[in-house]
Amino acid sequence: MELTKELIQSMIDTALSAKEKAYAPYSDYHVGAALLAKSGKVYLGANMENVSFGACICAERVAIVKALFEGEREFSALCVAASDDDICVPCGICRQFYSEFCKGDMPVICANETGDYRLYTFGELFPSPFSSIE
Ligand code: THU
Repeated sequence: MELTKELIQSMIDTALSAKEKAYAPYSDYHVGAALLAKSGKVYLGANMENVSFGACICAERVAIVKALFEGEREFSALCVAASDDDICVPCGICRQFYSEFCKGDMPVICANETGDYRLYTFGELFPSPFSSIE
């Protein structure tokens, strides 16, 4: 799959609109995620907070859990975008969760609220995944 400028822009636009669905009354930090599956479908997520802060679920995990439930197991690209000047990158828990399904060369587009972005590979963000319990 070729990551064209058009695809990057459309993933950013989609993630930015997904963040409108966030439930973030505690942080007021709204995050949207767009996850492109190998099937071609794009799964959306937004962060869902809870008064018990440890129970908050990031936008990226909402998106991937929706995709997994639909039977997806392989992914081509992830985009995350937040309601802030600073570019948003996935947290450690999300990186661990994604490492079960995503290859090191999967592009991760990390954006701010105005659409500025940085492009990473998943392997750059999470270079040494724990992958075996044997
Ligand atoms: N958050 C995400 O949804 N994704 C990230 O990549 C970083 C953090 C959420 C969790 C919490 O609801 C809020 O942002 C503040 O940490």
